[in-house]
Amino acid sequence: MTESRRTVMIAFVVLFSTAVGVSLLILFFGRSKSAHRENHTSSAYVVTVSVNPLDIKEGRAIMDNNKCFSCHSINGVGGTVAPSLNGVKYRKSPEMIFRWIKSPYSIKPGTAMPQYPFSDEQIGKIVSYLETVDSVHTKEPRMK
Ligand code: HEC
Repeated sequence: MTESRRTVMIAFVVLFSTAVGVSLLILFFGRSKSAHRENHTSSAYVVTVSVNPLDIKEGRAIMDNNKCFSCHSINGVGGTVAPSLNGVKYRKSPEMIFRWIKSPYSIKPGTAMPQYPFSDEQIGKIVSYLETVDSVHTKEPRMK
């Protein structure tokens, strides 16, 4: 094999592997993108955060009536076995807060956070309330 033939062969092999590599990348990323979209529509929640004071008040009342504060605290009032909910809006999207209340086991199997039989509307009001709760008390350690 002459030197120039070898160069041509090597160039061909390099080009060929690049083409295969690029096609595989396109296939892979094309697939994972559409898989992600499917996942998005089937398991993510769409949450509308209400700024209506009545909804916000009701959200808080639902929490008061369902013993959330035996585990969680807000502004230093409440239990300590669960993370303080001060500033939860900075740690979690409204969708993730919704999901924590709607189906905690789907996020963390075996978590002490109980699943409540609330309607989506009720959970939406709790989320709307939690969106108003700032991180006043930042000293409590985060549970993980
Ligand atoms: C028996 C104790 C308990 C009760 C009652 C409880 N939770 Fe929880 N909750 C937890 C624990 C523990 C976690 C943290 C889960 C983990 O990380 O393992 C948690 C997590 C959360 C989170 C996510 C917080 C974050 O910072 O990640 C939200 C939001 C939440 N709970 C809301 C509520 C609401 C609203 C109620 C009442 C309707 C409630 N919880 C009642 C124990 C409880």
